[in-house]
Amino acid sequence: MRQVTLLLSAGLAAALVVRSPAPLDQVLLAADDSISDSDRPAPSWWGAAVGDDHIQALEGTFEGALEEAELAVTRILRDDDGGDGDHGKHGKHGKHGHHGHHGDPSKTIYELIKESKYTTKFAELVDEHDDIKDLLQSTETNRTLFVPTDRVFERIPDGHKKPPAEFIRAYLAYSIAPGRFPARRLFFKHTIPSELKLDDLGGHAQRIRVSASLIFGTHLNFFTKIVARDIEAKNGLIHAVDGLLLPPPPTDKIIQLLPDTFSTYSLALATTNLVEELPEVWTGATAFVPTNRAFARLGPRVNAFLFSDHGKKYLKALLKYGIVANQTLYSDAFYKAPVDDDDDDKRAQKADYWHVDLPSLLDDKPIAVDVRRWKGFVSIVANGYTRVAVQDVLGSDGVLQVTGTVLIPPHKRGHGEEGQEWEEEEEQDDDREWEVEELKARLDPYLEGFEETEKRRGDL
Ligand SMILES: *[C@@H]1O[C@H](CO)[C@@H](O)[C@H](O)[C@H]1NC(C)=O
Ligand SMILES: *[C@@H]1O[C@H](CO)[C@@H](O)[C@H](O)[C@H]1NC(C)=O
Repeated sequence: MRQVTLLLSAGLAAALVVRSPAPLDQVLLAADDSISDSDRPAPSWWGAAVGDDHIQALEGTFEGALEEAELAVTRILRDDDGGDGDHGKHGKHGKHGHHGHHGDPSKTIYELIKESKYTTKFAELVDEHDDIKDLLQSTETNRTLFVPTDRVFERIPDGHKKPPAEFIRAYLAYSIAPGRFPARRLFFKHTIPSELKLDDLGGHAQRIRVSASLIFGTHLNFFTKIVARDIEAKNGLIHAVDGLLLPPPPTDKIIQLLPDTFSTYSLALATTNLVEELPEVWTGATAFVPTNRAFARLGPRVNAFLFSDHGKKYLKALLKYGIVANQTLYSDAFYKAPVDDDDDDKRAQKADYWHVDLPSLLDDKPIAVDVRRWKGFVSIVANGYTRVAVQDVLGSDGVLQVTGTVLIPPHKRGHGEEGQEWEEEEEQDDDREWEVEELKARLDPYLEGFEETEKRRGDL
């Protein structure tokens, strides 16, 4: 008995002399447990380097997202009828994640991750990149760090060589957002900027996609979950995440690797040889990309026509009309020119309603885009009738706005004349089958001039 007492008090004494855990550790203790329970496949550096992990994460999200988008829209319409309703996805009380307001406001983000025993792997990587270390040390401006705990790195299979330093640097920069983004602020965001600036986006910041739900918590880029939030530092905030937040791959890669969603679009790109004639240098892009189901909705006759020799030029016109070069439109940001020319349009972030005409690759024929914001929801509608179903699928060279119907140019009135007018759509073009002649009639005015260009190029 006495021995037991001795042992107990020895244990107690030992407990007393053990230094109190680093501030970050208090929070990450619980967070780390939730990570080990995760049944997500382990990330791999190499898979990451070529974007495979990102693709894996996207797979299967579209069907769900399309349905969710429909639901959200229904809810908006219903609430618009005057009912107070619920607050949908963006409830007022952002009670998610495990913890909040820990940390140590006297220490920088860098100091906190350096002294925590749960973030040694990330801190090691940071130590290899002085510029990243400076970002996390600097107190000139606040930043937000999304840090994976060591357990995330342990799940990377053994035998994987470390990727090149440049890739790691990009990964680290992408894990940092300029500004303070506490969980309650993230809750109302759709995308936020990172410290990763890309030439392919005109020198603008690659963005991080945020989806917040009261039930499922806050996810970044569809699948990286915030497991501990709002850890205070002197120069910003830390959130712990359950995976590597990897910079997205190029948009063409995303399309190629998601055949369940985009195989018809891929086939259309191949059939029309469009990829060959796209400019080599882009400074961002917005592509309204229809899903396989969207093509199917046009009906079998129209599809057979579009993919035939006669129909090819119409198909090409449709594809070109869906692509905007050098301007990147997100649901809450707009990179309309390279960084040094002009910055992000502020209306894109805040206005309840704003309109922008984007010049398409089809001879700059405009896509008229309406962005409406309502209680944290955003709807993006092109030409008054084509709704973006999955917003902000980020790529390293632009953004995909995924549509559930094919974007078709509006009626063109008085074609061939100067000062053409654009007619407001009266009928609901969404979700109906088209007749071949009808589609040809709609597109023919757009093909004038276009055909000559094509002939000169020797494509027809
Ligand atoms: C960082 O954020 C804190 C808390 O909001 C604020 O008090 C401080 O002034 C900010 N620092 C800078 C440099 O903006
Ligand atoms: C996009 O920008 C690049 C580089 O500035 C330029 O070469 C290209 O012509 C532009 N493309 C369009 C369609 O404006």
